[in-house]
Amino acid sequence: QPIRLADYAPPAFLIDEVRLDFDLAPNTTRVKAKLTVRRNGEHAQPLVLNGERLKPVSVAIDGRVLAEAERTIDAEFLTIPNAPDAFVLETEVEIDPENNKALEGLYMSGGRFCTQCEAEGFRKITWYPDRPDVLSRFTVRIEADRKFRHLLSNGNLIDAGELPGGRHFAVWNDPFPKPCYLFALVGGELDVLEDKLVTMTGRTVDLRIYVDPGMAPRAAYAMDALKRSMKWDEETFGREYDLDLFMIVAVRDFNFGAMENKGLNIFNSSLLLADPATATDMDYERIESVVAHEYFHNWTGDRITCRDWFQLCLKEGLTVFRDQSFSADMRGHAVQRIKDVKALRARQFAEDQGPLAHPVRPSSYLKIDNFYTATIYEKGSEVIRMLKTLIGPEAFRKGMDLYFERWDGHATTVEEFIRCFADVTGRDFEGFFAWYEQAGTPRVSLKQSYDAAARTLELELAQETPPTPGQPTKKPLPIPVTLGLLDGDGRTLAFERDGQAADETLIVLDQASAKVTLTGVDAAPVVSALRGFSSPVELTTDARASDRYVQLAGDADLFNRWEAGQELARALILARAKGAADEVSEERYAEALGRALNDQASDPAFKALLLALPSESDLALAMAPADPAAIHAARDALRLRLSLHLTEDLQRLHIGLQELGEFSPDAASAGRRALRNAALDLLAANPRAETGELADGHYRAAANMTDAMGGLSALMQIGGDLYENALTDFFQRWKAEPLVIDKWFALQARDPDESALGRVMGLTAHPAFDEKNPNRLRALVSTFANFNPARFHDPSGAGYRFLADQILAVDGFNPMTAARLVEPLGGWRRYKPELGALMRKELERIAGTEGLSKNVYELATKALAD
Ligand code: ARG
Ligand code: ZN
Repeated sequence: QPIRLADYAPPAFLIDEVRLDFDLAPNTTRVKAKLTVRRNGEHAQPLVLNGERLKPVSVAIDGRVLAEAERTIDAEFLTIPNAPDAFVLETEVEIDPENNKALEGLYMSGGRFCTQCEAEGFRKITWYPDRPDVLSRFTVRIEADRKFRHLLSNGNLIDAGELPGGRHFAVWNDPFPKPCYLFALVGGELDVLEDKLVTMTGRTVDLRIYVDPGMAPRAAYAMDALKRSMKWDEETFGREYDLDLFMIVAVRDFNFGAMENKGLNIFNSSLLLADPATATDMDYERIESVVAHEYFHNWTGDRITCRDWFQLCLKEGLTVFRDQSFSADMRGHAVQRIKDVKALRARQFAEDQGPLAHPVRPSSYLKIDNFYTATIYEKGSEVIRMLKTLIGPEAFRKGMDLYFERWDGHATTVEEFIRCFADVTGRDFEGFFAWYEQAGTPRVSLKQSYDAAARTLELELAQETPPTPGQPTKKPLPIPVTLGLLDGDGRTLAFERDGQAADETLIVLDQASAKVTLTGVDAAPVVSALRGFSSPVELTTDARASDRYVQLAGDADLFNRWEAGQELARALILARAKGAADEVSEERYAEALGRALNDQASDPAFKALLLALPSESDLALAMAPADPAAIHAARDALRLRLSLHLTEDLQRLHIGLQELGEFSPDAASAGRRALRNAALDLLAANPRAETGELADGHYRAAANMTDAMGGLSALMQIGGDLYENALTDFFQRWKAEPLVIDKWFALQARDPDESALGRVMGLTAHPAFDEKNPNRLRALVSTFANFNPARFHDPSGAGYRFLADQILAVDGFNPMTAARLVEPLGGWRRYKPELGALMRKELERIAGTEGLSKNVYELATKALAD
């Protein structure tokens, strides 16, 4: 019984005002709701409110308690058949936050109350029309024992005080109408880091970050990131913060990354807390981007929200685009773009190639929680990026301004968003809309022919999108291809298009195929196409390896420079995996990489990216059927060759980049650490005694977590006593720090050694393992399944069995998090038949289990469907 976009109907009743009264107690929280209700549709419709796992206490209309015959309550709804046209509904329920291990609705984490309502968690708190198009003004009173010292909700604090019997209360009012998924409540003992920001119109906003007692210093970086985000949104989009107070709370038990509740964001502590001793540069980077993401939702999500959950990309794709743009401004455009594209390919391209492929705007679902996917977020962001590329930055900004003006305070749709851009440009976006409705990664091919006498370059482009579940045939999409030319030495080669001189041009391929002729081309060119990854497609060209070397050495577009290196490496590894190693080319690649490493002009962060070979999962997407063992062996062999060839360069980098001063998390310092650790990592591919000592020394001398993890993971490659001792040392040292112990679990989960599966299974019995904590569970189980292909795809099927066992165990109490673990099995068709069959068998075992949640059921059965 899937829910369909085509069945959307406006709400039968609207709620103008909500008054909530919480009497907090771990096992018996009382929730009173007073709703001012008004009929929106026809007379005949009953009032139907969502409500799950609620213990009913009473239901009254306009002060009169309803008799049992006047209402029905089942596992999902409260139904009142003969509701008046306008009335006040008062209900009271009891809930049990302590035993809520699904972490959805009101639950407890570390002895504190907190909430997660998106997408459909509010119905586990009280009866309500739990849908994003019902916007109302919330006033919330919270009462609790004084030991729950901070009582927080959305908006402004309007009253607070002490009560007899060691109790106290607080009353919050949020002046902005909002859907219930943006409601939040927190109650407990917390420390707070405070700051202030003066907005563009001169208003002072109080900023508060609440964390576990003793952790306030670790919120300093998040605070800094928050202030930079607020300023950036003013400068870049003209968006000012709207309340006098902005709060963030960090909790340890959280199903996802973070949540944009109005004025009260709630974060997974792993995406908020950082100091040099316990957080890596990657943690800092993610904190900066997630703090920005959730803050940016204030306008793209909260002030303007989604009409229904099919429109999820309206807020998520757009907000990811905004946070990626912010990170690019903070940390450098090329490096940021490379990282974003790596993540897109690893997660979204894989999704598009499997049975769970879906459009950026899906048209049906069983559980919306399953659609918080790379496609909706990351591809959703790519679609916005293409829109901006197609119409240019000024028109893009105008369209955004119109969107904010036209839709502020409303719940809307992707169509209405796009209409804003049509209105400001006068252009037609009908063709563009297919990017929202069509799943699959388009394949674009490019052929070139140069005519020296005529000085012309003819480009032949074609596109094709492979079928995906439910979408056998596809139409052509408008694909922006940014393109430039290089001469044989890698210098930019000027040309003309339609008589206009240019260094770079934008070709929009909106038909199945097209020809473009560039003129005034003085020399046989190397074509640099899809610069900056101008659209989320798979590009194949007739370029020769020698063209790639020219690009790697000198492409003015740094993204394509990196991409050329990746293409070369991919070809070499896949050749080896198929038993056709090309040693001459491998040497040539090693030499080119050596030159790139010694290029004084380029940035260390960029060089660190150049040095990293395509991941095993990236390679698996390019091999049909995929053979993870062969890929792993081939990739390792190339790493060893590079390591041998580049030993001196790598050693020089490792020594030269040693850090002497104080730690700073800024992008330039992080880039130097990244390059130094990447050099060590490649040196460790050559497991001789000397590298063991080098890695051990690196680990022991580490003055920050980035270097400690760099040392530990180099030791992991080398193995033996040095590694085992370092692991023990690390655990002893950090056992009181959950976020660091997560890293300890994750590191062992991605160990490619033969022994790893046994070790991972053993770790599930470790006293520090806790499947109820999503961070810990993901550190071990999800890292193993997603980042250790060599061991996950063990020919015995034991890796798959392990994952299936975990999914079934976790589904018993936390379906949302269990469902997230299904994906690695979903790609079974792409693997060698003997592996695919074993993967399939585990999916069948999952799907055949009784009492499965809707979440896991939907993904397991979709993964099996043909
Ligand atoms: N809106 C949150 C964010 O992206 C994520 C909420 C995740 N919730 C869920 N049920 N998947 O910022
Ligand atoms: Zn978001």
